[in-house]
Amino acid sequence: MNTSERRDSIRAVMWQENSLVLLDQRKLPHKKSYLKITRSDDVARAIFNMVVRGAPAIGIAAAYGYVLALYEVYPGHQKDWRTAMQPKVNNLLASRPTAVNLKWAVERLQNRLDGIDDDPCKLALHEAHAIAREDFEANIAMGRNGADYIQYSKGILTHCNTGSLATGGFGTALGVIRTLAERGNLESVYASETRPWLQGSRLTVWELQQDNIPSRLITDSAAASVMHAGKIDWVLIGADRVAANGDVANKIGSYSHAVNARYHGIKFMVVAPFSTIDLDTKTGSEIEIEDRDSIELTSIAGQSLTTESAQTYNPVFDVTPAELVSVLVTERGVIEAPDEVKIRIFLGAD
Ligand code: MRU
Repeated sequence: MNTSERRDSIRAVMWQENSLVLLDQRKLPHKKSYLKITRSDDVARAIFNMVVRGAPAIGIAAAYGYVLALYEVYPGHQKDWRTAMQPKVNNLLASRPTAVNLKWAVERLQNRLDGIDDDPCKLALHEAHAIAREDFEANIAMGRNGADYIQYSKGILTHCNTGSLATGGFGTALGVIRTLAERGNLESVYASETRPWLQGSRLTVWELQQDNIPSRLITDSAAASVMHAGKIDWVLIGADRVAANGDVANKIGSYSHAVNARYHGIKFMVVAPFSTIDLDTKTGSEIEIEDRDSIELTSIAGQSLTTESAQTYNPVFDVTPAELVSVLVTERGVIEAPDEVKIRIFLGAD
């Protein structure tokens, strides 16, 4: 049994009996329940409603959503299935705008089926399985690459949830944390709660506990003083999109951790697979930042937290400028102080 098998039992996105099965992340950590989905529009709704979340997991769910759209449309449209399924594909693409993995996965399926005249259903499912499998393998490789780079940490601060729940399994930043912990090279993990949706307190703490990795939950606003107290030597986050110049869109609060880390001389690592790097987006300013419903800010579990007339602004991602990123970890290796030139060379894009 290898490290990943021993330390990684959670699966958020599964394909069973021609259906997509999603672990309902809205109910965690108190209830582990699953939704079985057979229609593409329901996959789009599940992504929008955060049943499944985390950029790579969204991409995998969208790939299976594409397969379900084909299953629905192909029998009645054997000649014009591409046109007939476009509204369903558009629905998937519109479900969440910031994570580029969604668009990446749908385009990968479209490219794979390009020029196919026969029944495309089997091939599409094969490709969706490949996307899921490759993401898991990329996470194992990133875990190894990131842990090799860090070697030893007395304290890692991580934000949002970047683990098995957010990916095809094992995780991005959490995969590095898992690998360091497995090697006995990590003293402690600080998980920031991640207002307003609480991915840190509800999901990351739960995932770390499943693997017996000791962690402490802190409020987002405690980060600077925990850094000042000398408890943290690395900040690790994932990414929803890395622009061509190395700017990183990730969960709201990531940028503030990066600024605080730079001030305190703490290194800031971004862990993201190739599918998250988007050369079509030149800089972070081009990234669409999702603005979600005010209810996420104004209440928790149905309990109002403010006045009825409170006005809100709820951007759920932010952009960390590349100059604040110490190292970008991918499945193929690491890029120190990433910038446009290094990223293009690394991706072999020239
Ligand atoms: O709104 P979410 O929960 O989908 O946001 C998730 C994040 O911001 C993660 O940090 C990101 O997707 C990288 S996870 C591998």
